Amino acid sequence: MIIKQVSRIKPSEITDRDVWLRRRELIKAAAVGAGLALGGASGLAHALYTGPENHQRIAGIRETDYGRGLKPTAYRHITSYNNFYELGYGKRVPAENAEFLKTRPWTVKVSGECNKPAVVDVEDILKMDQEERVYRFRCVEAWAMVVPWVGFPLGAFLQRFEPTSRAKFVEFTTLYDPERLPGQKRNVLDWPYREGLRIDEAMHPLAFLATGLYGELLPAQNGAPLRLVVPWKYGFKSIKSIVSIRFTEQMPLNTWRRIAEDEYGFYANVNPDVPHPRWSQKRHRVLGRGLFGGKEDTQLFNGYAEEVAGLYKGMDLRKNF
Ligand code: MTE
Repeated sequence: MIIKQVSRIKPSEITDRDVWLRRRELIKAAAVGAGLALGGASGLAHALYTGPENHQRIAGIRETDYGRGLKPTAYRHITSYNNFYELGYGKRVPAENAEFLKTRPWTVKVSGECNKPAVVDVEDILKMDQEERVYRFRCVEAWAMVVPWVGFPLGAFLQRFEPTSRAKFVEFTTLYDPERLPGQKRNVLDWPYREGLRIDEAMHPLAFLATGLYGELLPAQNGAPLRLVVPWKYGFKSIKSIVSIRFTEQMPLNTWRRIAEDEYGFYANVNPDVPHPRWSQKRHRVLGRGLFGGKEDTQLFNGYAEEVAGLYKGMDLRKNF
């Protein structure tokens, strides 16, 4: 995300930096290239990855048809080009700071307008049935990737707490702990990071809570141990490292809207016809598709219009951006 206070950085400036950084990566990749053990796409990606975390595979993942035919972005791109301001500002910094985020102990408090509020331990969340879904992911900054997430549908999880008829929205909050998330020592954003969905969006079958990617537990920089994934919305809706889920009657004030409500809305549905005030949303760059290629047309609702357009029937998508 592009933060006003830090300075008005243009996406083009960010891209230049990436090209420079990727040159370094390519040299590194070439160096290990000769010694690769080719164990399928994810094996290849892991061999190229040089991050600090231990890879922990998730057992018993159910395969699904979601995203069949999509080619996942390499693991090393998904896990080394991140937006996670709590672990630092800059795309490569969250992976470098990953070790700060200790994910045990960890609980998720579910509260608000529901009959069965509860505090759920992360170990119980990881014991739930896990499935794999390959989703497109589109950042508001006009880059994109394809991620093989592991996790479970958000709606099924929320139903366990029996939301009442007053539950019109769901608010999500990230951990606040400047020792484990040192980026919170600086006032870059209004911590803790918060996001929200309308209840029918949260109950939509595509809305997902991820515990992993590429068959392994989420790396810290991707939002361990639990993050939201809403594939038809800009990436900033997909809040990381969640500790609280609250059913509310009022629309939650999400972090980016609080910072710049003229630039970032509540809905944040991917829409090529509604430009960001400072850049077009018509096209995006796909991570890992070469230094100069990889541009694609952006699709309405990130290609999920058939599934989700009904949620916004009769709404003005320009006003409710
Ligand atoms: N969640 C928290 N807590 N803090 C953040 O800075 N960044 C958001 C979103 N979730 C962010 C967050 C943005 S802007 C994007 S694009 C995605 O995470 C990036 O997810 P990724 O790093 O896994 O690609």
